[in-house]
Amino acid sequence: MGRLDGKVALITGASSGIGRASARHFVEEGAQVVLADIQDDAGQKLAAELGERAAYVHSDVAGESDVRGMIEFAVERHGRLDCLFNNAGFGGEGAAIHELDTGELFHQTVDVLFKGVVLGMKYAAPVLREQRAGCILSTASVAGVTAGYGGHVYTAMKAAVINLTRAVAVELGPFGVRVNAICPGGITTPIFFGGGEALEPGQEEGALQQLRTLLGRAQPIPRAGEPLDIAHMAAFLASDEAAFVSGQAIVVDGALLAGSGSRAMASLAAEGAAEFAAEGVDTPGAPASAARRGDD
Ligand SMILES: NC(=O)c1ccc[n+]([C@@H]2O[C@H](COP(=O)([O-])OP(=O)(O)OC[C@H]3O[C@@H](n4cnc5c(N)ncnc54)[C@H](O)[C@@H]3O)[C@@H](O)[C@H]2O)c1
Repeated sequence: MGRLDGKVALITGASSGIGRASARHFVEEGAQVVLADIQDDAGQKLAAELGERAAYVHSDVAGESDVRGMIEFAVERHGRLDCLFNNAGFGGEGAAIHELDTGELFHQTVDVLFKGVVLGMKYAAPVLREQRAGCILSTASVAGVTAGYGGHVYTAMKAAVINLTRAVAVELGPFGVRVNAICPGGITTPIFFGGGEALEPGQEEGALQQLRTLLGRAQPIPRAGEPLDIAHMAAFLASDEAAFVSGQAIVVDGALLAGSGSRAMASLAAEGAAEFAAEGVDTPGAPASAARRGDD
């Protein structure tokens, strides 16, 4: 028995990365899944691979008619909707604040990362309210929790998704509808290369392997985050086991946010101890002194 048996889920950004892993995992857990994306070939291929419990629909989440259309597609096909997973995204505008151009890329970043989530919630809410059951998940980011993990507009839009999640959870709670966000840390996906389409055919696996090595050093848990780490959290939040979890932004980051301060302090302390040592001053207890003593 799967934890999502009989449930219907619609996942945006399902042609790659976190969305792709989530679509696959949700099907393995027993759900019927509608995959939505703008990378049609990859989405259709994945849906065919996942079999009769999966279907693909083209949907640009920045466009109101596409978002309305994908919700209608799911409801017409399955007669209900249990989980909308607003996951589509890209890195977007990344300029320094004084160089930021508020032109097309700025608007596209706001439209995909924020308006897309608003629209998904807008068109899923009437269906879920009427059913008096269901949930909405959105992929925010550690970048929405604290600064320094993405461009300014990306960071601001992910923070907006987190507070929108809380606001809509308050509105929809009385109707039995739950609303949550997931905040991934560094996850090995093509988003770091401008999306899978930006890579030459055949380049993706090698590029991801290199990224995996880099991300493995980014947080206290000494490995890179993988799309399946986020898919597991999404499946839990979409399941009945999460029946009393709503209005939350759940961080899945290998202790990146919990531990980065102490790691920064540790490396500063080591640097400082090394500088004192060069001047002949001992600093017992500091990491560099411990290294000199041969401690672990
Ligand atoms: N990978 C990470 O480290 C990380 C960390 C925090 C948050 N996130 C978030 O996770 C989500 C998924 O990203 P990913 O890492 O899997 O990247 P990815 O590039 O592998 O997948 C993103 C998917 O979104 C789709 N997409 C982009 N614009 C779209 C649009 N307008 N309409 C519909 N689909 C669109 C892309 O085609 C792609 O399939 C994003 O919201 C991203 O911001 C990722």
